[in-house]
Amino acid sequence: MLNPTINPIESNNQIDLTIQPAASGLCLRGSLSIPGDKSISHRALMLGALAQGETKIQGLLLGEDVISTANCLRSLGGEISDLTAPEILVKGQGLGQFQEPLDVLNAGNSGTTMRLMLGILAARDNHFFTLTGDRSLRSRPMSRVVKPLTQMGAEIWGRQNNNLAPLAIKGKKLRPIHYDSPVASAQVKSCILLAGLMSEGQTTVTEPAKSRDHSERMLKAFGADIHTDSETNSVTITGGNTLQGQSVIVPGDISSASFWLVAGSVVPDSELKLKDVGINPTRSGILDVLNLMGANITIEKERIVAGEPIADLWVRSSRLEGCEIAGELTLRCIDEIPIIVVAAALAKGTTIIKDAAELRIKECDRLSVMATQLSRMGAKITEHPDGLEIQGGHPLSGAEVASHSDHRIAMSLAVAALRASGKTTIEEATASNISYPNFFDSLQQVCCW
Ligand code: S3P
Repeated sequence: MLNPTINPIESNNQIDLTIQPAASGLCLRGSLSIPGDKSISHRALMLGALAQGETKIQGLLLGEDVISTANCLRSLGGEISDLTAPEILVKGQGLGQFQEPLDVLNAGNSGTTMRLMLGILAARDNHFFTLTGDRSLRSRPMSRVVKPLTQMGAEIWGRQNNNLAPLAIKGKKLRPIHYDSPVASAQVKSCILLAGLMSEGQTTVTEPAKSRDHSERMLKAFGADIHTDSETNSVTITGGNTLQGQSVIVPGDISSASFWLVAGSVVPDSELKLKDVGINPTRSGILDVLNLMGANITIEKERIVAGEPIADLWVRSSRLEGCEIAGELTLRCIDEIPIIVVAAALAKGTTIIKDAAELRIKECDRLSVMATQLSRMGAKITEHPDGLEIQGGHPLSGAEVASHSDHRIAMSLAVAALRASGKTTIEEATASNISYPNFFDSLQQVCCW
């Protein structure tokens, strides 16, 4: 047999996937281009639509979340060319020019789309919008952005005291604020910065710790008047400045690369090259964690492309050991915790993950779901309110596991399946299309014997 069998089983419009690695001898080898960074792709489309002139985007992620952003912007009158072309053109309308859409805007599964769009819509004076999402997104808290936007003068209504979508938004001429965010969240920070961009005067957001800074970098590149104070974790934007269309090259998403970084580490005799991956320090916690665990990762050809640091990454198999992940390190790998749990289950010793309570309000409760699903495969995991304790080294066996329609859970369980004895079936595995279209094709491609 040349490859592990990856069998799609279609039922109820959901595709379940069976992975059956052969008893021994599987290794992963090859070179992969990693799909575009999801966070940067959303922002490139949004800033392009708000700028004057044309924005050209190369390497945009064609995942479902980014398509949701493009669809929302198009419903508001944004002109965005065919997303499947190698280069995408966005004809900007200028700040505050969005039209009232004829229908409800749908952010699908994407928290970034909903929270960042809220900042843009709230500032569109005297226009009315409704915004919804899928079942998962309709249960995720929006009060974290509704609260500051309301302080700026916006009117937003929704279930549970204006916390849950569907939301109705009446755009206003907003006033600038200084917001002390109780949570380190790039979505909250970016929402307020976008609203501030369209208000008169200076808007400042202060965070308890520094979240990813793609918005700051890209706003600056588009000509916004924006300043960061790293001592206080504050960002200040002066509203009213016109943005100018730019050329954006989107780096490969380190969150997507992380599945290969772990798979290449835990599957014996593997060697993978991951090309053009973003290594922005606010996102590169996975490299530090795997380094602490003893992984064999080499960073090559470090360079800056369109304002973001990128590099080629090599990963070779190694024996991983448990480690402790807490505080700022947890924040810098927050989206990678599901795949880190897989690495920890296969490592020697105990791994402790702390300060990760935010994971309970992602696309699903990622702490509880990873603990439950991986335990079904034989892992030993104890759940804590803000993290997990994983006793590594217990052999994994194939099982029926559920992705809970969460892209990162689906791909993490697929990596675990590569080291499990017997057959693993992952329910709703195609959730991976949210951030990594063709993930399972790439997996087939790099599997060898
Ligand atoms: C994102 C920010 C992060 C991350 C999410 C994408 C963004 O969430 O988990 O997947 O693009 O701004 P926070 O807002 O909690 O930082």
